Amino acid sequence: MRIRRQYFEEQISKEVGRLESESRFSMTRDFIQHGDVSVFTHCICVAYLSCSIMRFFNIKANLAALIMGALLHDYFLYDWHDGELCRKIHGFTHPYKACANAKEDFELSSVEENIIKRHMFPLVPVPPRYKESWIVCLADKICACEETIIGHCKGRKMAFAEKMLQQGPFEE
Ligand SMILES: [Fe+2]
Ligand SMILES: [Fe+2]
Repeated sequence: MRIRRQYFEEQISKEVGRLESESRFSMTRDFIQHGDVSVFTHCICVAYLSCSIMRFFNIKANLAALIMGALLHDYFLYDWHDGELCRKIHGFTHPYKACANAKEDFELSSVEENIIKRHMFPLVPVPPRYKESWIVCLADKICACEETIIGHCKGRKMAFAEKMLQQGPFEE
């Protein structure tokens, strides 16, 4: 049976709340990804689009890992526009930084770890290993294109991310 939209929206919402209360995820609200879009909004849009892709193609995937991996895929926790020399290779290095940060805060499954590390394929030329990693890799490209070209993500995912923005932060 095809996954219901309401169900995956609830799961993303719960996971955002958990990440904000148990980790440094709220910090992503203050870092810019593309244009005016924060890393927080970007990651929620990527999680939402990943679930929408899973739903559209009726893919049997691990929903919990898909959502957690998507939400943490850009968990690098610095301002990559700060002009520091090392930021010139941000595109290549940030998946590893994001993964290291995520591992400091959580125990990751191999699927979650692979989602984070491989989301920059083909820039980082090692392909994703799991279907969940391929889905997030694709969703990330689509969101990044929308954010770069029109300044924000479109449609339901953006409306959902805005709702999440107003709900939190769920800090301890
Ligand atoms: Fe990224
Ligand atoms: Fe991203």
